[in-house]
This record gives sequence, C-alpha cells and structure tokens, in this order.
Amino acid sequence: MVKIAIAGGSGEVAREVIDALVATKKHHIIVLSRQEPGPGDTIEGTSWATVDFTNKDSIVPALKGVHTVLNFVPVYRDSDNAAQRTLIDAVVEAGVGRFAPSEWATLTTDTLPWYGPKVAIREYLAELNKDGKVLEYCLFSCGVFTNYLGAPYPSTTHVHTSNLQFDLARRRAILVDGGEGGQMSFTTVSDFANVVARAVKYEGEWPVVGGIRGDTVTAAQLVTMAEEIRGGQQSRPNYRLPSTY
Ligand SMILES: NC(=O)c1ccc[n+]([C@@H]2O[C@H](COP(=O)([O-])OP(=O)(O)OC[C@H]3O[C@@H](n4cnc5c(N)ncnc54)[C@H](OP(=O)(O)O)[C@@H]3O)[C@@H](O)[C@H]2O)c1
Repeated sequence: MVKIAIAGGSGEVAREVIDALVATKKHHIIVLSRQEPGPGDTIEGTSWATVDFTNKDSIVPALKGVHTVLNFVPVYRDSDNAAQRTLIDAVVEAGVGRFAPSEWATLTTDTLPWYGPKVAIREYLAELNKDGKVLEYCLFSCGVFTNYLGAPYPSTTHVHTSNLQFDLARRRAILVDGGEGGQMSFTTVSDFANVVARAVKYEGEWPVVGGIRGDTVTAAQLVTMAEEIRGGQQSRPNYRLPSTY
C-alpha cells in the first residue's frame, strides 16, 4: 500500500479523485483537513489528519511515509497562497517524493484572474528546483469539467455543476466579439479522476506539465451541437461580448 495524502481532501474535486484512488485498492489515502472529521467523512481506505495549514510543523508528522501529496485547496480561498506554500515546505521537509499543486483546471490564467495565484505557485516550485531537483511535481491541467455543460442536471458524485457562459438547454452561450468564442478544452470529471489515479500509480517520472484533454471545441461549436441534440435554434440570440471585455 502506497500512502497518498490529499490536502483539501474534504472538497468536491478531491472527493472524486479519492473515489478513483480508493477503487484501485493500491493506496492508503490520508485526508489533510483543517477540521475534525464529520460523520460522512469516514471512507474505507482512507484516514483523516487534522492539520494547521499555517504551521509547517503541524503538517510534517502527518506526511510520514507518504509517497505523493495532491493539493486541492483552491487558490481563491487561500490568501497569498499561504496554505499551499506551507504545504510545499512541509512536503520537502518530510521527504515526500511527489507533489501536485492545486491546478486541476487550465494553464492559461489571463482571462481567469481568480486563478492568478496558481502562477505564483508554479514560480515557487520552479525556484525550488532551479539548482537541481528537490521535488518532483506535475501541473495537472484538464480544462473545464464537461459536466458543467449538463447543468442543472447532476452527472457527478461530488462536484456541484452550474451554468458557466453556456446554457445548452436553451442552445445559447456568451460569445466574445460575435466570433467563435475561443477554443476550450473539456474533460469529464470521471475521466479526469481516473487519469489522476493512473498518474499516481505511474512509476516513471512525472512531467512538469500534465495535460488531460477530453475534447477541444469553441463556444459557437457547442451551441451548434446543442441545436442538433435538442433540436432547433433558440429564439433569443447568443449574448455577444466585445473582445475588449
Ligand atoms: N477544471 C474545472 O472545471 C474545475 C472545477 C472546480 C474546481 N477546480 C479546481 O479544483 C481544485 C479544488 O476545487 P474544489 O471546488 O473541489 O474546492 P473546495 O471544495 O471549495 O475546497 C476544497 C477544500 O479546501 C479546504 N480549504 C478551503 N480553504 C482553505 C484554506 N484557506 N486553507 C486550507 N484549506 C482550505 C477545505 O477543506 P477543510 O475545510 O476540510 O480544511 C475544502 O473542503 C481547485 O484547484 C480548483 O481550481 C477545477
């Protein structure tokens, strides 16, 4: 049994990955949380460690014998990346072999300012390894979860989906500058979780960038697909944003 620690392991995306990891029966999962476990938090194949993400010394003992740490603490809830930086320092001190920072979305952040702090962590990790490898890590990038396109209908176990800029039930979307709307990558939550579980099992060295992609389409193509699948065009037009927005 290889020990895998999941920071933010009580969260929605983490729970999907934990299910996929537990299903392999090859790992023991340690959930790292700020809270004491609640009644629904006892999952077979997992244990729980309550830690203080502002204090490295509280995290290091929980990482004893851990091979891989996956972080799911969202950067937009982690002011100045304080928790993630402390976690990385603890991972290094505990001698953990591999780390995945809280990416799990897109490498491009210029139109997604709330993902900006992910870039600062990429720099923190690159700096750590600049004079030789201190920590093996991978930026898992999967694009948007395809399941959001099915909102409001649920298609996941833990991740709550809501409408993004697409409303495929009504066959419409927000299109930038009246154009195609730009290309986006989509991966289903279940494909994503299974690929991450396979990457955890992989014995070779992780690449720094780990791209996962189900489909790449433009917003306009999605609207066309929705028209084909649901039949007919929406009488209300797509909302067209200027490209300067
Ligand atoms: N690709 C996509 O479409 C997509 C969609 C959603 C999310 N994501 C990505 O997936 C990752 C996880 O997102 P999520 O929505 O699953 O997260 P979440 O459920 O909002 O949070 C995960 C956990 O983080 C812990 N946490 C929150 N704030 C913290 C803080 N300041 N310090 C330490 N721990 C804190 C909480 O655990 P405790 O209270 O137990 O400590 C929480 O349960 C993020 O990197 C996000 O960008 C990607």
